[in-house]
Amino acid sequence: MVDSTPWWREAVFYQIYPRSFADSDGDGVGDLAGIRAHLDDLVWLGIDALWLSPFYRSPMVDFGYDVSDYCDVDPLFGTLEDFDSLIADAHAAGLKVIVDWVPNHTSDRHPWFVDAVSGPDSAHRSWYVWRDATPDGSPPNNWVAAFDLSAPAWTLDERSGQWYLHLFEEGQPDLDWDEGGVVSAMHDVLRFWLDRGVDGFRADVIHCIGKDPALPDDPPEVAGIPHSALNDVPVTHQRLRDIRSLVDAYPGDRVVVGEVYLLSTEAVATYYGDGDELHLAFNFPPLYARWEAEAWRQCIDATVGALDPRGAWPTWVLSNHDNPRHRTRYDRTAARLGEDAGTTAVRSEARARAAAVLLMTLRGTPFVYQGEELGLLDAAIPPGRAVDPGGRDGCRAPLPWDGSSDHGWPVAGGAGPWLPFPPDAESRNYAALRRDPASILHLYRRLLSLRRDEPALRHGRFELLDTPAGVLGYARTVGARRCEVLVNFTAEAVALDHHSTGLPSPAGAGMTVSLSSDGRDQGAAFGGTLGADQAVVLRH
Ligand code: GLC
Repeated sequence: MVDSTPWWREAVFYQIYPRSFADSDGDGVGDLAGIRAHLDDLVWLGIDALWLSPFYRSPMVDFGYDVSDYCDVDPLFGTLEDFDSLIADAHAAGLKVIVDWVPNHTSDRHPWFVDAVSGPDSAHRSWYVWRDATPDGSPPNNWVAAFDLSAPAWTLDERSGQWYLHLFEEGQPDLDWDEGGVVSAMHDVLRFWLDRGVDGFRADVIHCIGKDPALPDDPPEVAGIPHSALNDVPVTHQRLRDIRSLVDAYPGDRVVVGEVYLLSTEAVATYYGDGDELHLAFNFPPLYARWEAEAWRQCIDATVGALDPRGAWPTWVLSNHDNPRHRTRYDRTAARLGEDAGTTAVRSEARARAAAVLLMTLRGTPFVYQGEELGLLDAAIPPGRAVDPGGRDGCRAPLPWDGSSDHGWPVAGGAGPWLPFPPDAESRNYAALRRDPASILHLYRRLLSLRRDEPALRHGRFELLDTPAGVLGYARTVGARRCEVLVNFTAEAVALDHHSTGLPSPAGAGMTVSLSSDGRDQGAAFGGTLGADQAVVLRH
């Protein structure tokens, strides 16, 4: 029988933020050749697919999410030939590669916008969203831009007296997808990269490519929220169907993973359409969830409730380049609970380990953000070194590859990379953790190998178990194969009885600990008690 399951339903994705992954030329900024040099490490880890954040030509106002040429590599990151070599080597190593596609806005230095701003009669004027000045000089509506919540999503072009729309920075004017030229140009961008062999796209703020043509004010009760988190209009769905047809016409199950940054899981689910829009959409509520069993249970219920009826496949993500890393977030939870700093450091790694078990065993496609496999915390950024308009530098710190003074980033003159390293890089670095079989890096590797090995984890049915407060438990089953995952979110050991595991016999009898987040009892019969902050995967 031919397996018709598309690869992206079972793959584990790894997000690379190229600036901070690995630097091949000593300029302090990571690059494509740096990624290529570390493919073996990702294969060793057991990753299936890479998502590369933008490496296109850009003035870097938003570090590459402001694109000035969609079909070229910024010299900082290398050349198109470097890209071709990277993708060839990745494919040879069995890795898929998806790239970021930023269709909602360009850079203000993109030739289209440079032309558009040259005058109201220019060929590309209508490719962007312009509105006349209002009598009182205020912006055309009350939309708020992302990052600086006091800033309107509009900038006045003094020359023409008209305003242009930008849901993000002033240097990121929104394209007008009502304009046929924009649609065909952005479709051409997709074809350009598909023809070069990419396995798909991560589509940036994809829910924003359709806008209400009347551009009405946001309701006053949500008027402080960036409009990009509110924009949800029907026309976008037709645009996604067209994108889906274009991508699906290529062989090899290419995939579009959408960033639909809306606040409700129900709303996000609609962007899967009837299996004819996005293949996958990021599921962000777990990324914002507190480290509490009940919070996670609610996220899971909401995900299953919204996606299952549509036959839509979930995704799971703990961290990315836009938010504090999860270990940092769980540290903050601890600080709220009044733990001392030493306890917190130990516990936040234990929580990050338990979270990794969730990420890899829930039903859906997991996305790992570079460095979480090292248990990295956000870097502390001294005020003089902050560079991101959205305050996201901490989670974008360079990966420490080794314990040397430059951590594998040998910059001429000892200047160091573009951002400071994360805390404890002398001991918490790739080389040190790879040498230590008890490290979180090895836990990730064991988890990925278990997933690869166990069909119940990749595509088994999902069922929540009845567990005591503070513990989340679920079963994954396919045919006669059954795995149970138990996660203790509390600082105390918890004993489970046979009611809590749903088994007919007392607590986990006959089940073996295939994997535990702290390495304890692996391979032994499950004793019926979970340690503090411990997660286990049990099998018969
Ligand atoms: C997405 C990206 C973010 C970027 C924004 C504007 O949210 O993840 O990094 O700043 O879009 O492109």
